[in-house]
Amino acid sequence: MITKNHCKKEESYLNFSTADKLGICLFKYQLYPTGRFLTVNSALAKILGYASPNDIQKLKFRNLFSDHKDSEEFFRDLKKNKKIKFYETRFKKRKSNDDVWVAITAHMKQAASGKKHVCMEGMLEDITKHKELEEKFYFEKHLFRNLLDNLPDAIYFKDRKNRIIKVNRFYAQGFKMKPAEIIGKTDFDFFPKDQAQKMFNDDTHILKTGKPIIGKIERTLLPNGTYNCVTTTKIPVYDKKGKTIGTMGITRDITAYDHVEQGRLNMVISSLKVLDKVLEIRDPYTFGHTRRVSIIAEKIAKRMGWSEDRILELKMSAELHDIGKILIPLEILNKPGKLSELEFKLIQEHVKKCYEMLKPHDFPFPLPEAIYQHHERLNGKGYPRGLSSSKIIPEARILAISDVLEAMTDHRPYRAALGIDEAAKELKDNSGIKYDKDIVATALKILKENDHKPFWTDQAIKP
Ligand SMILES: [Fe+2]
Ligand SMILES: [Fe+2]
Repeated sequence: MITKNHCKKEESYLNFSTADKLGICLFKYQLYPTGRFLTVNSALAKILGYASPNDIQKLKFRNLFSDHKDSEEFFRDLKKNKKIKFYETRFKKRKSNDDVWVAITAHMKQAASGKKHVCMEGMLEDITKHKELEEKFYFEKHLFRNLLDNLPDAIYFKDRKNRIIKVNRFYAQGFKMKPAEIIGKTDFDFFPKDQAQKMFNDDTHILKTGKPIIGKIERTLLPNGTYNCVTTTKIPVYDKKGKTIGTMGITRDITAYDHVEQGRLNMVISSLKVLDKVLEIRDPYTFGHTRRVSIIAEKIAKRMGWSEDRILELKMSAELHDIGKILIPLEILNKPGKLSELEFKLIQEHVKKCYEMLKPHDFPFPLPEAIYQHHERLNGKGYPRGLSSSKIIPEARILAISDVLEAMTDHRPYRAALGIDEAAKELKDNSGIKYDKDIVATALKILKENDHKPFWTDQAIKP
């Protein structure tokens, strides 16, 4: 098929045999006047499913195209530019509904024999695998883009310095910005400093440990001054070699759900207040005691960095901690003089009675245990079980200190109020002995900040 001279000329570049081995199709096609193949190697026959190049030579070039629009475009471009490079199209395979993707490079050649003889010489390659990969890549990219743009969650990617490198539309809309305007910024550009610092710490922790943060619930202060409640999941992002190159986060607004939860919670708290009220009506001498203990405990726990959920648990424990007194005879509770040993023992019973009332019920936290332990002391000299330090849970340690602080500064039927200084002395003298050292230090610090005035007065208590 190929002239001897032609072969010699091609040998230093690519001959038919080499092209066949490489799977590259070489062809020469007479466009005018005959419209037929002059030469073609077996690679083309192979990729199109024909037995030999002779089978291809019987075919018209334009009939190889799966899409006639592509064939028209190909010949139009070839005619116009006299050459065409890497034209990608699909060719029909013999006896199969499958197509094969090819890339054609060709040029037009005027035959020396006369102007009326026009040829096309060229090569083409099977690029099906490449196209499949490309399509897969574009599909995944498109899918990813779709997810980013249409998910009603804020999605963001940060680099190792916690700078934002990509956000989705929803994230940007939250700040009334375009995604591109956010690139390069950090959380410190959008959130109050302490909140941004928490986010920064979380990201840094992920980068250091590789451990994700899943479904963290937090309240976020928005630029318009309102709060929303969100759940956030953050994961590390790795490069091909498995090295951490940044973090990715997805944040969902659950404010509406939070409002429903808050409503339910308010209902529970209102029920507790009713219980409180019953206790107060029965025993006016301890009026407001549990609410004030709750305020003290909350202040201490907040200062110690406890989570919102844990503080809520502590507050509920404080509200209920003396509910067992409802079962103690009033004449003993309000006895003006010194209590006998038996009477004191009866009063001590309020802890156990309260525990027994609460224990059968389900709580997602150790509320009954915290109440059971609120009169225990680290040195084991508390009641009812005489537990020693390692057995006393942190909730009970805060409750104990809050209870003492409030009780000593309030009037009782059997004594006048002892005052803040006396209460502070009791805590200080017994720090690390009866009471937890860190909690005492925190309580005393708060007292000092309040000029040793009670920060739990009735005025400070919301009804
Ligand atoms: Fe108590
Ligand atoms: Fe109490």
